[in-house]
Amino acid sequence: MIGVFDSGLGGLSVLAALIDALPRADFCYYADTAHVPYGNKSDELIQGRVLAIGEHLAERGCGLLVVACNTATATAVQALRAAHPGIPVVGVEPGIKPAAQETQSGRIAVLATEATANSQRLKHLIRDHAGHVEVFVEPCPGWATHVEMLQLDDPALAADVRARVEPLLDKGVDRIVLGCTHYSFLAPLLQEVVGNRAHLVDVADAVARQTHRMAGRLAHGSGRLLLHASAHPDHLHAALPRLNLGRLAARLG
Ligand code: DGL
Repeated sequence: MIGVFDSGLGGLSVLAALIDALPRADFCYYADTAHVPYGNKSDELIQGRVLAIGEHLAERGCGLLVVACNTATATAVQALRAAHPGIPVVGVEPGIKPAAQETQSGRIAVLATEATANSQRLKHLIRDHAGHVEVFVEPCPGWATHVEMLQLDDPALAADVRARVEPLLDKGVDRIVLGCTHYSFLAPLLQEVVGNRAHLVDVADAVARQTHRMAGRLAHGSGRLLLHASAHPDHLHAALPRLNLGRLAARLG
């Protein structure tokens, strides 16, 4: 079984790509709904939660872990790897590298949680892969919570998306990196603001390809899905159709 986790619903965008790439694999998805959002929490809290979830998934026999959360990866992927040296761990990091390679204008933006925006890991990613381009890092407080509450049509959210993204477009940004897995569910809203002025960069498919390469025998299961949550598991189940992921419900067992 492959364990996948996030602070809440955001990682379901990665899970959907994983299931497309590995349709016969068994997955256990863990949403840390008792502690969402991670983006405004301390490094200590996030690290403690990541280690506890890693333990939970390892105890249930997961042979590969996917951290479907940029914030948790930035803060705690090293600690998770150290705690489980026998279990391969795939993390999710903002797609700075593809954006920097593909930009025509030489200007890219990253939308992320406050914790990711302030992380050393993001600074290193930019230094290592985007030294030759201008990078605008935009923290987006509250966006993940809107997704979590399934308030995707909230006019206040739409106004905030516009207020944050339009100035980036005016600066000439032509690639906008979705640096939080929750933001994949805001892609239609973002696309409306962005139009054809920039491309959105989401790494879910790249993460799925990497997981596929590492899956080995775990690719050959019975296509089962378990959903676990630290609070309100019913909300996680109910969210699937609301996030256009009703097809995942058929795998629940
Ligand atoms: N989905 C997460 C991420 O990719 C975290 C969002 C949050 O809990 O603040 O960063």
